Amino acid sequence: MEVLVNDVRKFYSNKLVLNIDKLRFPKGKITGIIGPNGSGKTTLLNIIGGLDREYTGQVIYDGKALTQGIYRNMTLVTQKPYLFRRKVYENIEYPLKIRKVNKQERIKKVQDIIKRFEIEELQDKKAHLLSGGESQKVSLARALVFEPKLLLLDEPTSNIDPESIKIMEREILGFNEETKGTVLIVTHNIEQSKRLCDDVIYLEEGKVGN
Ligand SMILES: Nc1ncnc2c1ncn2[C@@H]1O[C@H](COP(=O)(O)OP(=O)(O)OP(=O)(O)O)[C@@H](O)[C@H]1O
Ligand SMILES: [Mg+2]
Repeated sequence: MEVLVNDVRKFYSNKLVLNIDKLRFPKGKITGIIGPNGSGKTTLLNIIGGLDREYTGQVIYDGKALTQGIYRNMTLVTQKPYLFRRKVYENIEYPLKIRKVNKQERIKKVQDIIKRFEIEELQDKKAHLLSGGESQKVSLARALVFEPKLLLLDEPTSNIDPESIKIMEREILGFNEETKGTVLIVTHNIEQSKRLCDDVIYLEEGKVGN
């Protein structure tokens, strides 16, 4: 999915926190978003992800405004992921269930992603009891399992150990290569952006810089 951001402005009280004239995220590419704390990265992702509708301007997805159909094909992994008070396995299965994927196919896909993420030992744990890093891993697995056309990642590896970062980066790259899904990734890790991204944009005080 291609994403265009046109004249998007967002205020909190009187403060302009996002001020973007034009920004294009090309289909099938991985774009990094970097910038200091408070520069508007999460605000931008929440707007593109359809979670924040309180802004002026337009976000255009493959030439169209946001619809239910587009919404179903994208997902946002937040900085502090929210998981249901159910088993990890059920959390990962959920996006497939709501998209009416049949049981056999669901089992196949969930087992496959659990294996790829090397989280077999977590699958029967209650998701709300996981550590911060474990939750982030499970949340990325839950996002990738239904092969979204647009994947929005807000600092997905901020609490992650080096070995697990390798796994997550491998899976993000693999997802992008195999499905041509578009990825936007907020990161403070410049080395990570070099490893993953086709292009990187820099945000400062809500504006795109160089
Ligand atoms: N709910 C809110 N109410 C008021 N101000 C907010 C709210 N959420 C964010 N802000 C402000 O908007 C600005 C942008 O915040 P945002 O969370 O997008 O930054 P960020 O680039 O994601 O930062 P970080 O790197 O710390 O995650 C900040 O100045 C922040 O204080
Ligand atoms: Mg943020």
